[in-house]
Amino acid sequence: MKSITNSFVNNKKTTDQNSTVQLIAGTGKCDTEELHSMYDQYSCQCDETGMYDRFLVVERAQGLNVWFKGDRKPYLDLVMGFASLNLGHQHPRVKEAVLAAISNIDHIHSFNSESKILLSKILAEKAPGSFPKKVYYPVGGAMAIDTAIKLARAFTKKPRIASFTGAFHGFSYGAMMVTDDPIINKWQYGPYPGEAVRLPYAYCYRCEHSRCRFQCLKSAEQFLSQNNDIAALIIEPIQGHAGFIIPPREFIVGLKELCQVNGILFIDDEIQVGMGRTGRMFCIEHFGVEPDIILLSKSLAGGYYPLSAVIARSEIWDCIPPAGSGIGSTFVNSPLGTYIALQVQKILEEENYINNAYRTGAYFTRELKRFEKFQNIDNVTGLGLIQSFEVVKDKKTKEPAPVIAKKIQSEGLKQHVIINITGLKKSRIKFTLPLWVSREDIDVIVARLEDILERAGLTE
Ligand SMILES: Cc1ncc(COP(=O)(O)O)c(C=O)c1O
Repeated sequence: MKSITNSFVNNKKTTDQNSTVQLIAGTGKCDTEELHSMYDQYSCQCDETGMYDRFLVVERAQGLNVWFKGDRKPYLDLVMGFASLNLGHQHPRVKEAVLAAISNIDHIHSFNSESKILLSKILAEKAPGSFPKKVYYPVGGAMAIDTAIKLARAFTKKPRIASFTGAFHGFSYGAMMVTDDPIINKWQYGPYPGEAVRLPYAYCYRCEHSRCRFQCLKSAEQFLSQNNDIAALIIEPIQGHAGFIIPPREFIVGLKELCQVNGILFIDDEIQVGMGRTGRMFCIEHFGVEPDIILLSKSLAGGYYPLSAVIARSEIWDCIPPAGSGIGSTFVNSPLGTYIALQVQKILEEENYINNAYRTGAYFTRELKRFEKFQNIDNVTGLGLIQSFEVVKDKKTKEPAPVIAKKIQSEGLKQHVIINITGLKKSRIKFTLPLWVSREDIDVIVARLEDILERAGLTE
């Protein structure tokens, strides 16, 4: 039987001056002004690409550094692709994995890949909980959230989802339903697939109760015991977008107990804080809790593929019939993404990066704590390579100071340092570093930050 020749040669056309081919031939050669004017004319401006400075156009990146067009001096990147680069920019072993992956396969649908099967075994075994688990790989974080909501509703046959004040879970309809960010004008897109119940998160620095006694947990207890239509509670074990808010252990443990008592699933969204970032593979391990569903994404495939993972108790997955499941999409279970993710798991283990994140993170917290000497900086907290602090007008009133925070960010850019301001009042500064940073790197970073704070006018 004759075989297919796999010839890519076709009838090549000569190109005219204004063709797509000519334009693309200029990639890397366009001058910055030309790019800015094309950006203004053709790019949607409501996304976040101009958030820092619309005139900065990325050229290349390496390790902790990013270079922008027309500027030879690198910028120190303290944001790391919003936690999608736990191994930093262009890690040589991740690059090697990407090249190996694309040299053999691109995408195929409806068939299994060896990497997907092996990765599932690894993630299911590493995830907390001695019960059987199964794994599925959507595209990006928001789709993982949607999948978890579908699973919870199908398994429990209950309609409502409870989430938390300050929560961020993404921008799909399901994810926005459980997101709580007053800055996002979410009502212009309504109606939503139901509205989630919002329970208070343990943001202790901004607790409104003069005497704590875990009022947040008590109100969750009261609500959950009086409402029997809650399918699941979805929670970030450390809130990312809110500014790396670390709750007390008792809060997370207490919520899990409430879930158990009331037949509610516990969904652990560690899309931002998982993958070794806190010094444990899964952030939830710090709290000693075994979630029913765990969600990962961002750094899962080293930042090269938008892979996410839904790791759930096998009995939950098994309640969905295989045919007509209503769960899936063209690029799910990607052989490319799962291959890279498998290699990322190997690198994390062989290089001992997660332990490094824990130890170096503790050093970073100690060093950053010194910044509390400044009048406007308070509540330096961190766990592993999750670090943040509040920028306030006054430490007694704790009034947020978004203008000062913005000034710090702008001064950072002037000094070639990329700093993220976040939180509900845009007054919390957070840092996200690759898991391999050394103490020497931290010393350089802290010195540069201190210089920026002084230049921004902060005083002791
Ligand atoms: C905790 C958390 N969940 C979900 C998401 C949504 O992920 P994605 O942006 O890939 O849709 C994010 C994104 O920042 C996140 O931080």
